[in-house]
Amino acid sequence: MENVEEIRCLFPIVKHKIFMNHAAQSPLPKPVADAVKRYVDDYSNFGASNLPELSDLGKSIFAELIGAKQSEIALVENTSMGLNIAANILRYPPGSKVVTTDLEYPSVAYPWLRKNLNVKVHYVKNVNGKVPLEEVEKAVDDKTVAVAVSHVEYANGFRNDLKALGEIAHRHGAYLIVDAIQSAGVVPIDVKKDNVDFLTTACYKWLLSPPGAAYLYVKEELIQTFEPPLTGWASVDQKIFETVDFWDIWSLRLSETASRFEVGTPSAVSFIGAAEAIKMLLGFGISNIEQRVLKLTDRLIDLAKASGFMLQTPDEKPHRSGIVNIRTDKAQQIVKKLGEKGIVVSARARGIRISPHFYNTEEEIETLFEEIVRLEKLF
Ligand SMILES: Cc1ncc(COP(=O)(O)O)c(C=O)c1O
Repeated sequence: MENVEEIRCLFPIVKHKIFMNHAAQSPLPKPVADAVKRYVDDYSNFGASNLPELSDLGKSIFAELIGAKQSEIALVENTSMGLNIAANILRYPPGSKVVTTDLEYPSVAYPWLRKNLNVKVHYVKNVNGKVPLEEVEKAVDDKTVAVAVSHVEYANGFRNDLKALGEIAHRHGAYLIVDAIQSAGVVPIDVKKDNVDFLTTACYKWLLSPPGAAYLYVKEELIQTFEPPLTGWASVDQKIFETVDFWDIWSLRLSETASRFEVGTPSAVSFIGAAEAIKMLLGFGISNIEQRVLKLTDRLIDLAKASGFMLQTPDEKPHRSGIVNIRTDKAQQIVKKLGEKGIVVSARARGIRISPHFYNTEEEIETLFEEIVRLEKLF
């Protein structure tokens, strides 16, 4: 990866904080903030109708990020909405079940817990922070409608093997639904290689964008087999509107693309930022970013082990991500004190969750760790 100092010039936050909380909400890089400011200035000076072509609000660049086609991408407002759309378009014959894990963020499980869906949610239990494929294999049967997981688990950073999960799901005619908010931007994603059916992510974490922008991928072959659970003007092919003065409100001609899952006006200001951020990240290369982040987290893991801390993050490289969780009963107090010193991390699952991005440095990791050791003794 190029000169880290040059990269750090793009991140004004480095002048003020040691920020290693990208698994929560990330600071905006300068090019992203500039793109948003330009948009807001034009909007203010010339009004919405005079704005430059907003292109596709990042759909094509997001498609490139995950190895999909632009027509397979819908704009949504957050990951939770993307997951809810997937949950609500599937059909659940009596006795149906959905398989997930006990490491999930609420938004991955909740959409299927609504009583009206009448679907049983099976939680595969983690073993030492890992989701064992053998247990998923045992849980998925012909009654399973979907396997719903995070690509990377939010509390300990365990990276699931999507290809293997997809194979298990598809053997039983189930869909693979993926929450990619903890992987997109730091871990390479290839929805075609891994045969993913639905994938959704907001962009305010590792994708370094403002909140309000999220994307939903729906596999091409599936798009037209599903009726959207919500509809509005955006669900219909926009070409229909270009040729008429009056909209056809008597029939619903749903878009043949993933746009059929869109409803109304998106938050353009958020998507302008997201498109700029994804462009920047692709410019650096997601594999390069991943390697750099794994190098930083390797250093952190070595330091933690050498000081006798227990890690809640599994060690094996294929299951690692940008998140490291160090077990301590004093996580809340330590994280608060670190915050007062301008070092930003989170307390999660009775541990300190540390999530550096590619612009962080080994020196920052060392400073953070020295502070953790000092505070652990203090409390
Ligand atoms: C795995 C996971 N999914 C979903 C969310 C929330 O996503 P959103 O706010 O975009 O709905 C989070 C936030 O921490 C998360 O970690």
